[in-house]
Amino acid sequence: MERDNFFGKDIISLNDFSRQDIDYILDVAQKIKDNPGEFKFSMKNKIMAPLFFENSTRTSTSFQMAMLHMGGNVMDFDVETSSLKKGETLRDTLMMIKGYQPDVVVLRHSLGGAVQLASDVLDCPVINAGDGQNQHPTQTMLDLFTINEIRGDIDGVKIAMVGDLKYGRTTHSLALALSKYNNCKIYFISPESLMMPKDVLKELQEKGIDFYENSLSDFQDILKLVDIVYMTRIQRERFSVGIEGEQEYQKIKNDYCLTRKMLKNVSPNLKIMHPLPKVFEIESEIDYTPYAYYFKQAENGLYIRKALLNLILKNNE
Ligand code: NCD
Repeated sequence: MERDNFFGKDIISLNDFSRQDIDYILDVAQKIKDNPGEFKFSMKNKIMAPLFFENSTRTSTSFQMAMLHMGGNVMDFDVETSSLKKGETLRDTLMMIKGYQPDVVVLRHSLGGAVQLASDVLDCPVINAGDGQNQHPTQTMLDLFTINEIRGDIDGVKIAMVGDLKYGRTTHSLALALSKYNNCKIYFISPESLMMPKDVLKELQEKGIDFYENSLSDFQDILKLVDIVYMTRIQRERFSVGIEGEQEYQKIKNDYCLTRKMLKNVSPNLKIMHPLPKVFEIESEIDYTPYAYYFKQAENGLYIRKALLNLILKNNE
């Protein structure tokens, strides 16, 4: 996609982007990272409406900061004090927002179809900031940017994705994105009840990417085979409410934790990524080792989101 082709577009699914599109976005983000003054006032007079119906720290703040860094404005919206608490539907809320004319909406919701609904209702571009267990495309772009930063290349990466692969939307998007690159190898490691969904595996199979499904007992051995281990937390909020869900969560919650001891014989170049928040799945002392890359990964979210806002909201100038 040429730069022009991003203008006015939604960002809903990784499937809408070719490898060339993604590489182009990563290049713009790299320019922004290398030149902090780049696009300084490019969002002047632009208004972003962040609609976060699920909790968020990194995605919401990095989108807001991206806008503010570039001289743009951010609407204030708090789901807790909104009329959704009075029972208003998402569609009605979106109809109102449409009338108030934001330049871009960034939406996170627990339902997979929510972003598509927003795109159908609204006139402005909509960015998916995580739709249920489905996808989280901007996280994936920052993950790819980070993999490239670590290795100098995305092609050929050997990566282990560990944890809640059933509900973890970041792993779904990342695996699908890697299938657009060459010679990548993915090891999926999860508790038995949280394995990668069959429909995602089927899509990966069709795309011909090399992947393996492993159990937690293989975790230690696989650490020696990969360049990157991508840890994820158990998505507790997606378990059924009530005693059953709680029991299931308690049963698996201590099943996997990456400890300092497990890193004893790994390559000195191994890097640990995590979309964050991390809860108990990485021993905290790992934060202080050169293996930990997750805070740098989170910072890269700012550059990716600045790049995306520019490409979507500014025509070629
Ligand atoms: C992730 C998400 O929301 O899917 N967080 C994020 O955006 N960085 C991962 C998670 O919540 O576990």
